[in-house]
Amino acid sequence: MINYKEQIADRLAAIVADLSIEDIKNMVEVPADNKMGDYAFPCFRLAKVLRKAPPMIAKDIAQKLQEDPMFSKVEQVNAYVNMFVAREGFIKNALDEVLEKGDDFGRSSKGEGKTVIVEYSSPNIAKPFHIGHIRSTVIGNSIYKIYDFLGYDTVRINHLGDYGTQFGKMICAYRRWGNKEDVVKEPIKTLLSYYTKFHVEAEKDPSLDQEARDIFTKLEKGAAEETELWQWFRDESLKEFTRVYDMLGIEFDSYAGESFYSDKMPRFVQELKDANLLEESQGAQIVNLEKYDMSPALITKSDGSTLYITRDIAAAVYRKEHYDFYKNIYVVASQQNLHFQQWIQIVELLGYEWARDCVHVPFGLVSLEDGTMSTREGRVVFLEDVLNRAVDQTRDIIKEKNVNTDNIDETAKMVGIGAVMFQELSNNRIKDYVFSWDKVLNFEGETGPYVQYTHARAASVLRKAGEETVKKASEGAIDLSYLTKDSAYELVKLLYTFPDAVAEAGDKYEPSIVTRHIVNIAQAFNRFYHDEHVLVDDEGEKTAKVALVLAAKTAIKNGLGLLGIKAPEKM
Ligand code: ARG
Repeated sequence: MINYKEQIADRLAAIVADLSIEDIKNMVEVPADNKMGDYAFPCFRLAKVLRKAPPMIAKDIAQKLQEDPMFSKVEQVNAYVNMFVAREGFIKNALDEVLEKGDDFGRSSKGEGKTVIVEYSSPNIAKPFHIGHIRSTVIGNSIYKIYDFLGYDTVRINHLGDYGTQFGKMICAYRRWGNKEDVVKEPIKTLLSYYTKFHVEAEKDPSLDQEARDIFTKLEKGAAEETELWQWFRDESLKEFTRVYDMLGIEFDSYAGESFYSDKMPRFVQELKDANLLEESQGAQIVNLEKYDMSPALITKSDGSTLYITRDIAAAVYRKEHYDFYKNIYVVASQQNLHFQQWIQIVELLGYEWARDCVHVPFGLVSLEDGTMSTREGRVVFLEDVLNRAVDQTRDIIKEKNVNTDNIDETAKMVGIGAVMFQELSNNRIKDYVFSWDKVLNFEGETGPYVQYTHARAASVLRKAGEETVKKASEGAIDLSYLTKDSAYELVKLLYTFPDAVAEAGDKYEPSIVTRHIVNIAQAFNRFYHDEHVLVDDEGEKTAKVALVLAAKTAIKNGLGLLGIKAPEKM
């Protein structure tokens, strides 16, 4: 695909010799108001070098570009050169690319030969998988898909919280008050109730705490009975998590969580000692991070057991040695900012020069409208329940709206779950947001159902156009003059910039850039569809318009795919 910005920079460089092509390329703008052209070049910076007023320079440049067939019009407005590209050439360039590449439109080979790890979801075993977990799970999944699309080798890791003193408590509670069938039937709810009961009982009988600590020590030493129970808790919990992952269509390459590093810890405690980084504080070992304006990091407790942060240090080094990553991305809530700053600093202090290739990608909090999201008060909203409710409500809407579908349940799943995921990926990830049912399932707003519906609408137009026309359109032999009106042209422009949006989303770890882009495409498509008749009698006109419908459908589908959302053919 021709890169218009580069082409323009080339031409401008030939006129203004005083700036580098790179500089010029960075200066070329896309005006917010399309009346100011498709591209604009500000001349302020040239005034000094050329010792002329910027409007004079702009006028000069505009004149020299007058005859260039790349443009239909070049104007000087104040200090700007406003360039209107020749639409037919632009449209051909963009449509050919989309139609040729199809499912691969937007894909690149930028990341070839580089491995990127994306760590996401990482819930704690035997704790509820609640609505708060949706963020890391869905944002991480999308970041993985984007990196994969950009040509990187990817590794998806679920760093399960499957270790720590709480397992001593849980085993203790299970032995005292537990029941096997209950655990099998409802693992997480049951294990959580043991954990809660433990705390209540330990208030009355503090010796329980010691008992739990002893059990955990045994577990750390690999004692058979304790390990077996722990393994069983882990397996049962994972079964429940997997059910939710299946609903979301989310997978992992590795479930190496905290426990995986339990036997890899001594090396790092030793390395920290050798680097003179450890200090003793009330029997515990800490790393003082005062120099970096951070509170100290607790590496081992007074009883010698290791902590969350120690396991993260071990995990990072393991990943480097095992996968030789180019980047190691952690999609984890912003509440853990300090934790990540601390351990990445420590890894750097240990002399690992790749420490800063570990990237924490934080995100804000999600809350529910009625304030029900409060784990502390025990009012937990399970993610699975939210997803089921989304599917149920969508099924009702589908029936009520007489939505076109061959399989109501399939469509309800695609749309209901897609809607929840889409909302998750709509806002800048760092923002806190309030989960709202009305917003999520609104078919008209800037929502998942709206974009999916637009995709289905495009699919329906193609079905009506018939295979032959679609085939002709997809081969790209079309009369472009039918697509030069504003609403068609604005849609083409958005298709043209889709690959840039994907690349930017990758650079910024920000899937919402893709989300917003496909909302824009969907809106532009619907404007075009409203302004123009697609299925007209004239074969030439119909084929050209069908080509644009096909291209828009392709981009929407690829974009939804990057968000982990399905694109229904009917809806
Ligand atoms: N299990 C942790 C939690 O639920 C999140 C783990 C984040 N990943 C990491 N490498 N520390 O809070």
